[in-house]
Amino acid sequence: MLIGTVQFAPRYGQPEANRAHVAALVAGVSADVLVLPELFTSGYFFQATADARAAAEPVPKGPSCAWLIEQARATGTTFVAGLPERGPEGGLFNSAVIVPPDGPVTCYRKIHLYNEEKLHFAPGRQPPPVVDLTARDGTSYRLGLMICFDWFYPEVARSLALRGADIIAHPSNLVRKNCPRAMPIRALENRVFTVTANRYGSESNGKATLTFIGQSQACAPDGELLYRAPRVGDAADVVEIDPAEARLKRVTAHNELWEDRAPATYSS
Ligand code: ACM
Repeated sequence: MLIGTVQFAPRYGQPEANRAHVAALVAGVSADVLVLPELFTSGYFFQATADARAAAEPVPKGPSCAWLIEQARATGTTFVAGLPERGPEGGLFNSAVIVPPDGPVTCYRKIHLYNEEKLHFAPGRQPPPVVDLTARDGTSYRLGLMICFDWFYPEVARSLALRGADIIAHPSNLVRKNCPRAMPIRALENRVFTVTANRYGSESNGKATLTFIGQSQACAPDGELLYRAPRVGDAADVVEIDPAEARLKRVTAHNELWEDRAPATYSS
């Protein structure tokens, strides 16, 4: 099956323009799973909570989810994308959705908010999802989801893998340099595929400027990098994988990844 990332520089507060930009980037790209960045509709560095609220949408009834459903149905691709969510009670969440061509939308609210995100969003308190899906050639796979700074908490990738994820989709707006080096380790220590979609460009909130580091990438269960996009520039990259490789948890003749865990010794 084919999995990939869409890297671009979202325009602040311009969801329609951002959706149109992604549509142009993915036109003609053949993939079973395409991961877009965190907050792909809105941009990232909110100047005020009012800007986050103005960009936030209900899920799955909002215009960006409707657009993702349309894209998924038209192409047979499962889209994974980050967007600001307005919950039924009015709460704001930094969320991401899994949108298959023929199934329900799954939403995940980011648990580990990064820095000023805490000024605008409430943290998610539900476990990150693992969804059973089927690729266009009939291959079954299990897709897990986490968002950007969740990478800093290895528990998230571990719990997704323990619950059977073959592939971890990772919509991101990375600013720290370490994540591109850390994700091969998340892949290795859990023996799963990881797909990190990052943005590039800079944004200012009026007081500070953030520069996003691009380098969207996919990693294999042996910790190898399957591809990495440049630091700057639009990219829609795809790689062929066999998700069954992520179910081989044997490390040596005497080590099986899950059997050798000793959670009672480190549960505290
Ligand atoms: C981040 O979590 N967007 C750094």
